[in-house]
Amino acid sequence: MVGLIQKVCIDVVEKLGGAEAVLRVRERAGLPSDRLFRLGEVYADDECQRLFQASAEVLGLSEAEFLNAYADRFGRDAQKRFSRWFDLAQNSRQFLEFQTTIHNTFASGVVDPQARQAVKDKFVVEKIDQRNIITHYRSPNKFCKLYRALGSWMADYYGDEIEFEEPKCLHRNDEECEIHVKWTRIAKEDGLFDDEGLAFDDKTLQSEIRG
Ligand code: HEM
Repeated sequence: MVGLIQKVCIDVVEKLGGAEAVLRVRERAGLPSDRLFRLGEVYADDECQRLFQASAEVLGLSEAEFLNAYADRFGRDAQKRFSRWFDLAQNSRQFLEFQTTIHNTFASGVVDPQARQAVKDKFVVEKIDQRNIITHYRSPNKFCKLYRALGSWMADYYGDEIEFEEPKCLHRNDEECEIHVKWTRIAKEDGLFDDEGLAFDDKTLQSEIRG
């Protein structure tokens, strides 16, 4: 998993529980003492899973409460770092379509070909119509609840309303999560939107990702 995700996790723990909570989380998750998370580097998936679980436990939050706090921090952080992407999408439907392009931008900075492909293979977004997409998600991390939390944050950010259904889920031993996203309100309907090749040549963006 690319380090941005873990870095934000540590930030949430620090904000809600302080430095002592960070130490407890690191210990509980079995992180090497010198582990720093860099935005564009890849770290073990199982370590990331332990980090999320330990963070919720140490903070005394349910999984859903922790993921909501995480999504809020992640969204604000991303909005500052990658404001261009937020300006580009006119609503959360466009953002959620664009999400695979964003992830692939991170993947393009990963040196190891297998690790790079692993990032790219996780999400496929199927566009159904202006108000519906289906996101196909496959990952050892089984982070579909994180998907919902981040998607909901994006909807709030743009003043939209969305509903999720998940007829297939990795947690129920299906081969993938099939996440149906339906917009019941879109505050700002689409204008022109073309995500072809966006961001890939942007040196500033790549250097931000490399941290
Ligand atoms: C500017 C916005 C975003 C940025 C910069 C971003 C970046 C990233 C990065 C770098 C990863 C790690 C990828 C990997 O190592 O496989 C990731 C994972 C993930 N992202 Fe995003 N993302 C953004 C928006 C979103 C949105 C809107 C959603 C959901 C609607 C989302 C859902 C997820 C999920 C579920 C994972 C975990 C994937 C897994 O490892 O199983 N992301 N994101």
